[in-house]
Amino acid sequence: MTHFGVTLSQFIMEEQRRFPEATGNFTLLLNDIAVSCKMIAAAVQKGQLANILGATDNENCQGETQQILDVIANDLFIKNNAKRGHVAAMASEEMDDVYEIPKGSPRGSYLLIFDPLDGSSNIEINGPIGTIFSILKTDKENPTEADFLKEGVEQVCAGYCLYGSATMMVLTIGFGTHGFTLDPAIGEFILTHPNMTIPKETAEYAINHSNRNLWEPPMRDYVEACDLGKEGPRKKKYTMRWVGAMVMDIHRLIQRGGIFAYPMDSSLTEKGGRLRLMYEANPMALLVEQAGGIASTGYERILNLDPQHLHQRVPVIMGSTEDMTIILDNHKSYAKETGKEFTHKCEQYQ
Ligand code: AHG
Ligand code: MN
Ligand code: MN
Repeated sequence: MTHFGVTLSQFIMEEQRRFPEATGNFTLLLNDIAVSCKMIAAAVQKGQLANILGATDNENCQGETQQILDVIANDLFIKNNAKRGHVAAMASEEMDDVYEIPKGSPRGSYLLIFDPLDGSSNIEINGPIGTIFSILKTDKENPTEADFLKEGVEQVCAGYCLYGSATMMVLTIGFGTHGFTLDPAIGEFILTHPNMTIPKETAEYAINHSNRNLWEPPMRDYVEACDLGKEGPRKKKYTMRWVGAMVMDIHRLIQRGGIFAYPMDSSLTEKGGRLRLMYEANPMALLVEQAGGIASTGYERILNLDPQHLHQRVPVIMGSTEDMTIILDNHKSYAKETGKEFTHKCEQYQ
């Protein structure tokens, strides 16, 4: 049965009324992103039937083996956006450098940066995967890497598409976080989850427990306290969930509360963290804050980090305010003891 509701394009057109100077280009860009995601969703759904599962012989610049679907998803984003005249340049996890718009093609004023396929290790087990994207504005005609390196607060839009049991697009343009479900019967994303709000309290966390001996004390203390259950300081039974695809783990916490963390650990100090700032941490941080949550490295607000390069990695801890406050307090005391800097400040944590 077709569900009547507002489509993604109708929603964006309505939202554009907030910006009297808008030209309509942003709506068209979002449309091209939605088309790319629908094409990826179609490929994901065919799975092995389309012979798209498995690894390629290539590694990306981060030293990770590219899966066939990583490459397909990246190509679809490039093909659907390169010549449409809305973007000035693109960048992605799967490309070492900035993608320049081909000579002679029209160009717009947006920078699009994305993780074409998040949770690649879930592809071959038919697990949830997704696409994450972030949009910035530029006045440069030929933008370079430096033009992408803006604080996360500068994002004009952030979103993800989750290829789960249903395909969902969740996005923010700075006025709340909204969820759309793909109706396969009509090929449209329909607004099903307006103004998503992260519950303040939670008893659920998502973290790769196998790294616990490598974490810093503030994160270890938080998890150990949770694991003591009703007898511990938190006085409630916690549960742990880890899908291994940030899109899915964050989607769960936006829906029903929780903590998602890929914190700093002693095996990651040289790399700076596990997750990438520009196309994983920043877009998710904006979505989480817009849904009323907190997003931090433990010491700094993610959206205020000053990016150094496209593929920079950072520690990530985000989610429900009550538990995030405990985690941030832990980091604050640890910073005091060890002389580290603690600067996190946001609307929900002063
Ligand atoms: P990607 O597939 O884009 O490389 O990202 C995978 C990320 C993220 O989605 C997930 O939370 C994390 O890697 C899982 O890491 P572990 O395998 O170390 O748990
Ligand atoms: Mn990813
Ligand atoms: Mn990826």
